[in-house]
Amino acid sequence: MKKIHFILIVVVGAMVVTSCGKDYRRNPGKIYAPDMTYSRAYDYYNTTDSINAAGGTFNKMPVKNTIAREQGIPTHISETDTNAAKALQNPYALYAKDLEQGKRLYLIHCAICHGEKLDGQGPLYTSEKYIAAPANLIGGKYLNFSAGKIYHAIVYGKNMMGSYASQLDSKQRWKVVAYIKSIQADKGGAAFNMISEESVVEEAVAEHNHSEEGEEHDQDGDHEHENGEEHGAH
Ligand code: HEC
Repeated sequence: MKKIHFILIVVVGAMVVTSCGKDYRRNPGKIYAPDMTYSRAYDYYNTTDSINAAGGTFNKMPVKNTIAREQGIPTHISETDTNAAKALQNPYALYAKDLEQGKRLYLIHCAICHGEKLDGQGPLYTSEKYIAAPANLIGGKYLNFSAGKIYHAIVYGKNMMGSYASQLDSKQRWKVVAYIKSIQADKGGAAFNMISEESVVEEAVAEHNHSEEGEEHDQDGDHEHENGEEHGAH
């Protein structure tokens, strides 16, 4: 009896020790369908780094009919509807800092062709590597080009100029438009009026909040959503 106890203890002990060991079998043995043994699925909400690292390809465009966070609602103006484009107005409150960002975005995306001075003499054009003459945005018919039409040109491009809709979200586009309009005003174009004075806006917000005090508040109190737009500013 004692001997059996002893053997049992040794066997069970050995099992415990080996099952806790690091080198238990991970190898599934012969693999005849590797894509079932090793999952190639990509997890949701992962960055694209793992896909890149694995040499995978994926569609980098936003999913059709979806609106990314902080993107404005699309205008639904078709490419050929120039009248609607002309009348299109900036829906965002823009401040001095947005004008700065508009300048930066212009220099990144547009200046290569339209030039740092907006005169259509960007380095890509003057180097003769790009044959189509970019619009001179500070002269001729373009000096008083409507803001909406500039926005339209960013969304759809024009002839040899491609669309910049996927590089610039709707607010960024308006920042670029505001920057162009401000320079045009300096060069004799229509007076520039796309920027709100910070203090004026603050007063308006204060007044708005004041007049609301007597009203019933939202059940879930999510008043701040009305001003949520600005939180997205980078
Ligand atoms: C690769 C060169 C290139 C880049 C980059 C470029 N454009 Fe253009 N753009 C052109 C050319 C060329 C034209 C003239 C098209 C025509 O009239 O045939 C043009 C025309 C325009 C027009 C006039 C459109 C019209 O309806 O006549 C506007 C406004 C404009 N561009 C704004 C921009 C803005 C803003 C950016 C940056 C977001 C930009 N462009 C980037 C080449 C470029």
